Amino acid sequence: MGESGTGARNSLSIRDNRNGKEYELDILDGEVVRAMDLRQIRLDPDDFGMMAYDPAYTNTASTRSRITDIDGGRGILRYRGFPIEQLADRSSFLEVAYLILKGELPTEDELAGFTHEVTFHTYTHENILKLLDGFRYDAHTMGMMISSVAALSTFYPEAKQVHDPENRWIQIVRLVAKMPTLAAFCYRHHRGLPYVYPENQLAYSANFLNMLFRIGVTEYEPNPVLERALDILFILHADHEQNCSTTAMRVIGSSQTDPYSSLAGAMAALYGPLHGGANEAVLRMLTEIGSLENIPEFMESVKRGERRLMGFGHRVYKAYDPRASIIKQTAHEVFQVTGKNPLLDIALELEKIALNEDYFVARNLYPNVDFYSGLIYQAMGFPVEMFPVLFAVPRTVGWLAQWQEMLEDREQKIARPRQVYEGSGERDYVSMDARG
Ligand code: CMC
Repeated sequence: MGESGTGARNSLSIRDNRNGKEYELDILDGEVVRAMDLRQIRLDPDDFGMMAYDPAYTNTASTRSRITDIDGGRGILRYRGFPIEQLADRSSFLEVAYLILKGELPTEDELAGFTHEVTFHTYTHENILKLLDGFRYDAHTMGMMISSVAALSTFYPEAKQVHDPENRWIQIVRLVAKMPTLAAFCYRHHRGLPYVYPENQLAYSANFLNMLFRIGVTEYEPNPVLERALDILFILHADHEQNCSTTAMRVIGSSQTDPYSSLAGAMAALYGPLHGGANEAVLRMLTEIGSLENIPEFMESVKRGERRLMGFGHRVYKAYDPRASIIKQTAHEVFQVTGKNPLLDIALELEKIALNEDYFVARNLYPNVDFYSGLIYQAMGFPVEMFPVLFAVPRTVGWLAQWQEMLEDREQKIARPRQVYEGSGERDYVSMDARG
């Protein structure tokens, strides 16, 4: 048993009041106990032993990680130790991607090398376009994205060698490189526009904007404010530790599935309105509210528990989401170029009310990353169906870093939670004529 600085034992004593037996559990990392240490607590040697019951993993650490650190109480987010505010202010998305994937900020040469690698892998096999052509004209872009990422696994069967670090790195580069291409292709299909191929002399975000918005053969020059805004949004979305989709990525990857199939699963987890689909849900909500005079009735329905204020609340943040503050500032810069999104006033009013009303204050409900991002995307010309896709493109970096960390972690195994079975006990089969 270790000792703390005060000489007290670094352990937790548990007394089982059913039989008076006492147990001593090690405390790790300040305030963690191993769930497996509970297993020794049993009445009878034949018993299974005690388990922790934690639906939705609200209080269970599933891993040790060195990637992203969140202090939800103080509204702090850091990638590899660097505050998100500094990264959003001073770095590029590819620089942050390198940091998240490799653990350190790149030198000039390392960044040039990584940029070259990513640029070199932006093209996809032409058959991906045939796959996309099979979708209906009004198919949701996220459905197309998930399918095309899963399809990539069939083009790179060697990606199954998940324990080969060199092989892993090639797949990581391919995915970071191809996600904007796939996203742009899905958008062009959705809009009925011809596909635009990557132009590798352009920077990551500029290339993405070019593939999305270029019409005809004229050279496309992205507006530098919009290009930088997209880069900032990508930086802010790059990772967020063990959320629903990252956990999906780790769980799927733990059975040694290839990274394309695992990432398709992570994207499916992201798609839901409580996670990365919230940005789309916010825009639909603001549109439905429509004008300032409808806000009081809308807020009453939220307080009656009939619906949620989308873009508010977070499992981890119990203070203002630091990403939301940066996005709000970025929104003002974007609107100077695009003109103000008319829904901004509704959003600002909702925030003002929510920050002052008991219902929201008592529950620590603050704007999260999704509250203002959709307003920017819409002002830039994206349809709402693209919003979750715009979340998935940068989050690919985080998913891959977390997947890699999981594979290199010797404590990890195939993920497999337990259950508390509450169904009927053993009973005999009843033939059809004797039922009912
Ligand atoms: N509007 C109204 N009430 C809310 C909201 C909301 N957006 N979020 C939580 N609550 C209430 C909830 O009803 C509950 O109240 P009570 O204690 O009276 O039952 C209390 O706050 C705690 O909520 P919870 O559902 O137990 O909290 P959670 O940690 O399980 O859920 C959340 C977190 C993000 C799913 C939730 O806050 C939510 O549904 N927010 C809206 C969707 C959203 O914006 N999602 C994006 C999250 S940030 C991007 C990302 O990383 O995914």
